[in-house]
Amino acid sequence: MVAARITVNGKETPISPAASHTTVLDFLRERGLTGTKEGCAEGECGACSVLVARPGVNKPTDWVAVNACLVPVAALDGQEVITSEGLATAGESGTPAALHPVQEEMAVRGGSQCGYCTPGFICSMASEYYRPDRCAHPDPADATTTTGTGTEHGPNGFDLHALSGNLCRCTGYRPIRDAAFAVGAPTEDDPLAQRREQAPPEPVSTAYTRDDSAFLRPSTLADALQLLRERTDAVVVAGSTDWGVEVNIRSRRANCVVAVDRLPELREMRVESDHIEIGAAQTLTEIERRLDGSVPLLAELFPQFASRLIRNSATLGGNLGTGSPIGDSPPVLLALEASVVLADADGEREVPLSDYFTGYRQSVRRPGELIRAVRIPLPLSPVATFHKIAKRRFDDISSVAVAFALDIEDGIVRKARIGLGGVAATPIRALATEAALEGKPWAAQTIEAASQVLQAQGTPMDDHRASAGYRSAMLGQSLLKLYAQTTEAVSS
Ligand code: FES
Ligand code: FES
Repeated sequence: MVAARITVNGKETPISPAASHTTVLDFLRERGLTGTKEGCAEGECGACSVLVARPGVNKPTDWVAVNACLVPVAALDGQEVITSEGLATAGESGTPAALHPVQEEMAVRGGSQCGYCTPGFICSMASEYYRPDRCAHPDPADATTTTGTGTEHGPNGFDLHALSGNLCRCTGYRPIRDAAFAVGAPTEDDPLAQRREQAPPEPVSTAYTRDDSAFLRPSTLADALQLLRERTDAVVVAGSTDWGVEVNIRSRRANCVVAVDRLPELREMRVESDHIEIGAAQTLTEIERRLDGSVPLLAELFPQFASRLIRNSATLGGNLGTGSPIGDSPPVLLALEASVVLADADGEREVPLSDYFTGYRQSVRRPGELIRAVRIPLPLSPVATFHKIAKRRFDDISSVAVAFALDIEDGIVRKARIGLGGVAATPIRALATEAALEGKPWAAQTIEAASQVLQAQGTPMDDHRASAGYRSAMLGQSLLKLYAQTTEAVSS
């Protein structure tokens, strides 16, 4: 097996002697690439953002921005990384380097004061700069001003959500937004634009061991399942957005980490006549772009799920695998009546998500089993919405999350599916509320009564995010809000 190595700014670099848990951030900084900064070490500030060449959605390669603080460098064995230092064009001897267009705009529009956050902003901005359909399909609703006041899309198609995982504490966001909305299209001789036309590096089979701790990347699902049968102590990672926090903040270490994010069998998307199957290791960004709004409840969820930087790495399999009661995807997937396909070395089984969670961070998934895919039955219920109640609008953890999917025909609720997060030890279905709605007219009296039922669902707790009383009140309000939205839509 070839020694593990990573290409950084065009230069191949051996990963050894880094420890198997060493992050990309520490690896880069130890090699002098100190533009990449540590702010929080838990995926919330974006100071560590770098670009990785990944399989593209509309081009062979996308330049994807990720949090270097969360990803073990061994996970990028054989891959290509660009840091903020690698974006500028190297000058001839004796001449200064030419700034990259996003660096140029940040400089001339005053987008940087102390500069600590700037390299991370630059990498996130560059990822959006190179998004293949950015200029081809600017959002017409927002393409109104050059400053983009009050908008989330610039006239150049720049989606400000690309920066939702980057925090700045001294410049203020307006000059940064001005820079984002001022960048043009990549020129034809731009090397990183040209690089998108070629395939990204293939995933390589990795067995990187240091000090009795191994990072393993099997190349097929069969190999992965056999490995998981043998190594019952293995920690399974995809985007490492959860495990990376455990390593950095709680100093957890594993004897064996198994990466499954590039397994082809976990990266398929199939639309059949009666269901959609989403491979568990596709990133949320890939799912969002591939579905392109065809599952409206998921389209509503994605912008509210952490930040673009996290969604570029995080997966549905990971979000369900951790079993968190406040994960954002379970309420939505419960309302969609999704099921999970679990695979082990003996075969597969399909489990409805409503039967999947068994206790706090516990599920029916057995040792040695992987989540291979998530299935969403078709057709979809036409009245659907997702309410996430959190302290911040974006990039925050929910206090309560509620997803509704309703069939309403001739003014009668024929079917109601409601998923809840943050009100029990596991995500749950609001079964009593569903029963209180089904067969009843979609009318104020029904909603008032059902909202009382909804308020009493689950066993919400007091914690630092919200009180139990607040959580219950928000449950009831969410149904009233949905009713108000549907009646507004009918009367307008
Ligand atoms: Fe804050 Fe990585 S250091 S997101
Ligand atoms: Fe100082 Fe952003 S420029 S934190």
